[in-house]
Amino acid sequence: MSAPSMTLYYNAASPFARKVLILLHETGQTARVSLNPVTVTPVAPNAEVCRDNPCGKIPALRLADDNVIHDSRVILDYLDHQHVGMPLIPRDGSARWRRLTLASLADAVLDAAVLIRYETALRPEEKRWADWLDNQGEKIFRSLAYFETGAVTELSSNFDIASISLASALGYLDFRQPNLAWRSSFPRLASWYYEISQRPSMQETQPPA
Ligand code: BEZ
Repeated sequence: MSAPSMTLYYNAASPFARKVLILLHETGQTARVSLNPVTVTPVAPNAEVCRDNPCGKIPALRLADDNVIHDSRVILDYLDHQHVGMPLIPRDGSARWRRLTLASLADAVLDAAVLIRYETALRPEEKRWADWLDNQGEKIFRSLAYFETGAVTELSSNFDIASISLASALGYLDFRQPNLAWRSSFPRLASWYYEISQRPSMQETQPPA
């Protein structure tokens, strides 16, 4: 087997990086990418990452030609064009826009959950903004309610960009906000998540214990 030709800046706790790892597993591309673990927070950027991605965010993917692409959505799109199996992002038609829209809603859950994490783990307690936190939580609940009633059947049809993004979001909620107990409000999502959690791509990319 040849040496990896790409390098991924990532962190095992990052749900955005997890989306990339899941897609690499699902498309049989793990051996093509070497993993470079980095620690990055909004108040402690990593110099190496900032050299390759000026905004300092992970995941970022250094390609064989030394170009760097970043933002999990862009990386997923790129990697989905590098394998010969069924695309995980539909290439055209209404399926493309529907699955990308569901993926975007799942990313909004992720954004809100990560912002809650930063607010509660990094910001000094006396500076926290309760209304802002509450609204991030409500954004998560509204979005999960939409998936529960309006999309869970569709999600079951394919493990693709939409499913990967939502799986990563639900996994992150379990990891960082276990008290949210989302399963009791969203039983159909819970059952979908239980099923897809058995996939090797999900098992092998779990956040740290
Ligand atoms: C976390 O530790 O929750 C985290 C790490 C990297 C990116 C986003 C979140």
